[in-house]
This record gives sequence, structure tokens and C-alpha cells, in this order.
Amino acid sequence: MFLQLKSISKGYGDPSKSNFRKVLEGLNLEVLTNQKIAIAGPSGSGKTTLLNLIGTLDQPDSGEIFFKGKKITGYSQEELANFRNRELGFVFQMHHLLPQCTLWENVLLPVLPVKKVVGKAEKEWAEHLLRKVGIWEQRNQKPSELSGGECQRTAVVRALINKPQLILADEPTGALDEQNAVNLAELLNHLSGDEGVSLIVVTHSSELASQMDQVYHLKNGILQ
Ligand SMILES: Nc1ncnc2c1ncn2[C@@H]1O[C@H](COP(=O)(O)OP(=O)(O)O)[C@@H](O)[C@H]1O
Ligand SMILES: [Mg+2]
Repeated sequence: MFLQLKSISKGYGDPSKSNFRKVLEGLNLEVLTNQKIAIAGPSGSGKTTLLNLIGTLDQPDSGEIFFKGKKITGYSQEELANFRNRELGFVFQMHHLLPQCTLWENVLLPVLPVKKVVGKAEKEWAEHLLRKVGIWEQRNQKPSELSGGECQRTAVVRALINKPQLILADEPTGALDEQNAVNLAELLNHLSGDEGVSLIVVTHSSELASQMDQVYHLKNGILQ
């Protein structure tokens, strides 16, 4: 099994107080290598909470997460940082590109914590990806000089730069117009297929969801 979540529960606040908000309750999920899954659900149902747990940006109150057979819920802070930098790529609703850096600098930035310096291989990989998503010509421009769709494509390239095994995308088309949303959905779909990356995407878009292998609905703290 590539990724396995076992009986994950997560709430916010003090469990002994009345304002405690239970979000996930005994949630299970299994993802296969190269599998693409969509997670749908109303606002506030816990989709981002779930992605944050898989992305090890937050810890569950109970339950276990296994990545390729290893229990990541028991990792130290250092192991977690390593895991995130090497195995995961993140795409958010807003691109979160650094405004003062060019597109080229933005996509190569995540290499630094892993490799210390950006080598020839990383630059070639970046060029390959940028050409593939059609923004190579814009590489010396800054995010403010790019369209929303181009920024989001840049964010996808950045997520792939360290050749992760799993991409986590939280409403990646949420801020795009319809045509750009369709384009980005196709891009995510094709890139993950070509590069053999598993994909978990939270989305309201039926267009994007329909391109995934499986669609789950987050409801009452579990996936259905
Ligand atoms: N850091 C936090 N502290 C307290 N409550 C939170 C926090 N993050 C999320 N919540 C609450 O948890 C619920 C699920 O949030 P979230 O995972 O962001 O849902 P979704 O992404 O599906 O819209 C919401 O009711 C939200 O208000
Ligand atoms: Mg959310």
C-alpha cells in the first residue's frame, strides 16, 4: 500500500471544553501507487484538515498514517521535514509564489533544503517541466507579470521539482476562471500520469474530479 490512513481523528480546541470542534472521526483511506483521487465535500467539512495531516503539517489526535509501509505519524520533527521536502509536493488554492523572485527562481527554491545547491540536473528538470506546461518563455518574469493560470502552472512545476511521489493539491483550480481551471486540471492529470506521481486533490470542480481514478466525499468526519 502506498498511503494508508487508519482510524484518523482530529479536532480543534480543548476536548474538555464545549467549544471543541471535532472534524475527522475514525477516517480511513488507502491510496495505491500512481493512483489519483479527488476529495469533495462542503466548506468546513475538514478537507484541508485532512490534507494537512497527510502532508504532516499537523498531527492527528489519534490514528496512524503509513507511507510505503512506514509509520509517519511516529516520525521526529527532522524526519518529518525530510519526508515533506523529498516525497511530497504541495499545490494550494493561491499559488504562494514569492513575489520578489522570478518564475525560474520560484520553481527551483524547494531544491535548496534537499540538495543545498541547484545543479545541472535540477535545472534541466525545471526546463523540461516549464516547457511541458508552456511557460518556459516567461521564466524570467515575476508572478505579478503572469496571469493567474500561469502562476498556478508555475506552482505545479514547483511542486514537482524534487520529483515527489505524492502531490497534495488543495482546491488548485479554486481561484481560476473556467478555461484555466480546465487547463490546470488536464495538466495535473497528465503530469501525474507521465511522472508516475500519486495525486490527492481537494476540489469543488466536477471537471477535475471526473479526471481522477476515484472520488471520495468527506462527510461526518469520514470518507464515503
Ligand atoms: N486551526 C484551526 N483552529 C480551529 N478550528 C479550525 C482550524 N482549522 C480548521 N478549523 C475548523 O475545522 C473545520 C474544518 O476546516 P477545514 O479543514 O478548513 O475545512 P474545509 O477545507 O473542508 O473547508 C471548520 O469548522 C474550521 O472552522
Ligand atoms: Mg479547505
